[in-house]
Amino acid sequence: MNDAVALVFGTRPEAIKLAPVYQELKRRGTPVQVIVTAQHRGLLDQMLAVFGMTPDVDLDIMQEGQSLGEVTCRALAGLQQTLHRLRPRVVLVQGDTTTVLGGALAAFYERIPVGHVEAGLRTNDKFSPYPEEINRRLTDVLSDVYFAATRRARRNLLGEGVAPAGIYVTGNSVVDALRFVVDQNPPLPESLHWLDEMDGRLLLTTAHRRENLGVPFSRICEALRELTERYPDLTVLWPLHPNPLVTKSAHELLDGVERVVLCEPLDYLSFVPVLARADLVLTDSGGVQEEAPALGVPVLVARDTTERPEGVEAGVARLVGTETETIVLEASRLLDSPAEYRQMAETGCPYGDGQAAPRICDALEHFLGDRAERPADFDWVSGADTGGPGAA
Ligand code: UD1
Ligand code: UDP
Repeated sequence: MNDAVALVFGTRPEAIKLAPVYQELKRRGTPVQVIVTAQHRGLLDQMLAVFGMTPDVDLDIMQEGQSLGEVTCRALAGLQQTLHRLRPRVVLVQGDTTTVLGGALAAFYERIPVGHVEAGLRTNDKFSPYPEEINRRLTDVLSDVYFAATRRARRNLLGEGVAPAGIYVTGNSVVDALRFVVDQNPPLPESLHWLDEMDGRLLLTTAHRRENLGVPFSRICEALRELTERYPDLTVLWPLHPNPLVTKSAHELLDGVERVVLCEPLDYLSFVPVLARADLVLTDSGGVQEEAPALGVPVLVARDTTERPEGVEAGVARLVGTETETIVLEASRLLDSPAEYRQMAETGCPYGDGQAAPRICDALEHFLGDRAERPADFDWVSGADTGGPGAA
């Protein structure tokens, strides 16, 4: 056993949300080992570059059109072998992907303690989101220390019998990552300079969830088409997730539609300024649901359930499902009513205040016995200046 903290991740959102923790551990002089499965190859590499992270071990497991079972097997086998060799003091995983489950299970097999960043998110619907709801529940069963982003996530864990001593409420590190970028004020990439010259309104879209592929996906595309027809000043920009099932359908259904722009996935330094420029977001992404309110952008969630109800309850997000008619109706309400729009845009971000990474590191030190004092929990107060760019 050495004294390093191992960060295990493999996809875009895990890299973004663990990057602030990586940077904070480095700042404190804590030894860090970065182990990536590269469940995502291109998307992961984009984010490693943005945050200056270099993997100590890269399992390079991604294959085109990979099945859930294949990713699980490759991640688990590679991670157990790696952890057996490196023997870190603790393993941190983040979120609910297959890499997260593989990392937690491999660490358990090697009898290494597991810390789960963003623990306790639940929809309580086994198939929505699929397979993430089960990945995160299993990961929480395997974990020893829990970094819950919100008080609700903490309550979910307590309800499942997790001992309170191991749960720390930290806020979500995505707001820290967002601030890291906002502080740099990065320019838009050349391919998106047209956004600077555009007078009209921008609807930013992302979608990739497995339960939305197929019919729901085509209804989302139809809604985008109808919205651009109804609002001549509206442009839709959709950076496509590289899953071939996403890119193929989106191009089939939306190529040639006026003012619908499909593009490659944007690196974080490009995505954040685009998000900040957007007037409205339509997404099935977890991370984007958290980021949009931090930038004061109303978000419509194209899903039937969300494990992030805080945004809906606070009034910064609306759960609109995937029916064309409902999406068009809800988007129109916001596009037509400046008062309703303002109310959504000005509420703030219930997910974090940009200080999650220091809290996670304090909590980890407390859990490991390196720090006597238990850190205070993050608590969002409605209307507080928590995450917006002005607050950075
Ligand atoms: C995965 C996670 C999901 C998370 C999402 C974030 C699982 C089961 N799913 O979904 O929870 O929300 O990442 O984006 O862990 N591909 C590329 N290049 C890349 C990334 C993906 O070509 O950089 C293509 C490959 O063909 C790959 C496919 O996308 O086989 C699907 O990738 P996979 O990681 O299995 O699932 P996602 O849908 O990306
Ligand atoms: N993102 C990005 N470029 C894009 C689309 C998304 O950098 O073109 C970022 C986004 O800001 C968020 C994260 O990727 O932080 C979300 O990833 P994704 O939607 O793939 O996964 P999820 O959050 O749904 O698990």
